[in-house]
Amino acid sequence: MLRARIAVLVSGGGTNLQALIDCQARGELPHGVLSLVVADKAGIGAIERAQCHDIACAVIPRREPGFEERVQKALTAYEIDMVVLAGFLGILSGDFIETFGKPIINIHPSLIPSFCGKGFYGLKVHQAALDYGVKVTGATVHFVNAIPDGGKIIAQKAVDILPGDTPETLQHRVMEQAEWKLLPAAAEQVARELVEKGKTTWNDRI
Ligand code: GRF
Repeated sequence: MLRARIAVLVSGGGTNLQALIDCQARGELPHGVLSLVVADKAGIGAIERAQCHDIACAVIPRREPGFEERVQKALTAYEIDMVVLAGFLGILSGDFIETFGKPIINIHPSLIPSFCGKGFYGLKVHQAALDYGVKVTGATVHFVNAIPDGGKIIAQKAVDILPGDTPETLQHRVMEQAEWKLLPAAAEQVARELVEKGKTTWNDRI
């Protein structure tokens, strides 16, 4: 494998996908190649971002029957070596993860194990951090297993909470200062392990 073929699963505006695209354009993703975007619904900003950069894009509605089977078929058809969840709101089943059998990584907008797991996504994560009164939050990239946000942690970055922060201002700062930096770096780290060793620390997962 010269470069790991990467599929990115998206559900929203695609700013994390854009960070991956920009990283690749800067030559900072030498061991990976963005090969497929899977959008779990039509009309989201991430689709345009993929199209603007000539990345193959499949729209597979998450709420329709057979979602996981259709995603598996697309991953096979594009000979994908690893998956990146970038603002993806679905929870992949244990069967899906085992069937795919290769690394899947996710970006979560908090310092896991805080404010994570079922029901913690989007602005809800930042609202919970503000409600609790923590002074520092951040983002985490982790391997995906059957437990929501439960897989082995790959990287984290802390972000200060400022007086007067709202969930929206905090979300943007966490994306800008943490998510958009961590995810591309982690994708390159995992891709490099795949290319150089044929496996990653994910393979040692419990
Ligand atoms: C944001 O809530 C971000 O914190 C989380 O996913 C959401 C949208 O991301 N990671 P994106 O703009 O679609 O990448």
